[in-house]
Amino acid sequence: TPKGSCLESVKIAIDTGYRHIDGAFVYYNEHEVGQAIREKIAEGRIKREDIFYCGKLWNTCHPPELVRPTLEKTLKILQLDYVDLYIIELPMAFKPGDAIYPKDENGKMIYHETDLCATWEVSKHTHRSSSSVLLVECHPYFTQPKLLEFCRQHDIVIVGYSPLGTSRDETWVNVSSPPLLKDPVLNAIGKKYNKTAAQVALRFSIQRGVVVIPKSFNPQRIRENFQIFDFSLTEKEMKEIEALNKNVRYVELLM
Ligand code: A2P
Repeated sequence: TPKGSCLESVKIAIDTGYRHIDGAFVYYNEHEVGQAIREKIAEGRIKREDIFYCGKLWNTCHPPELVRPTLEKTLKILQLDYVDLYIIELPMAFKPGDAIYPKDENGKMIYHETDLCATWEVSKHTHRSSSSVLLVECHPYFTQPKLLEFCRQHDIVIVGYSPLGTSRDETWVNVSSPPLLKDPVLNAIGKKYNKTAAQVALRFSIQRGVVVIPKSFNPQRIRENFQIFDFSLTEKEMKEIEALNKNVRYVELLM
């Protein structure tokens, strides 16, 4: 993110009413997120316990002995005493070390053998809540019906990333899947409620119990994405949107 834009956006988001902030060391803006939260606390706008901050353990830090020091590094960058949630960013491990994307002389990623369960077990010694969280891509074009049902049965909370269909940045997005927010059904339903396709997409997810983490650096759109609690979709509309599922990911994680 361009320097400072994250700081401003998080402050606007907190003023708007957002409380869940999805961050990661590897986004390289945790210092700005931390500063925004601390400034809003200092202003008396919020208390620390009002915020739900999610941090992430990067792929090079999966060996169990690295988990705690890596979390401590994140806390130092944020200048906060704790995070509310700390998740394994991706279920594959890279070779530990300074390189974030360790590659061999042929440019191939160097993976690392670690037991994912052992990484996860570390949290058992410290965490206070018993709920599990799964962060996956989820939106009207990738609705994950089977996974959603499984998670419902096992009391696992799904957080859906790319709920608006991503920024369509070709360096990491499969842009052969059409732009979500141009979808005629989402736009037609939006028209009925005087809402945008983005608001309909977000409302659809929360209404089926999926947590959403929309991203925007635009003040107007940050506010727009929060105006989703004053209308609800009918069962028929929910079904219509579910039927848009293409079973195609925008984020293929080809590494
Ligand atoms: P911008 O930052 O200019 O608002 P996702 O949350 O699925 O990753 O999508 C993020 C992308 O969607 C960003 O490119 C963001 O651009 C754009 N975006 C965010 N909110 C809206 C909105 N309400 N309408 C249209 N585009 C949006």
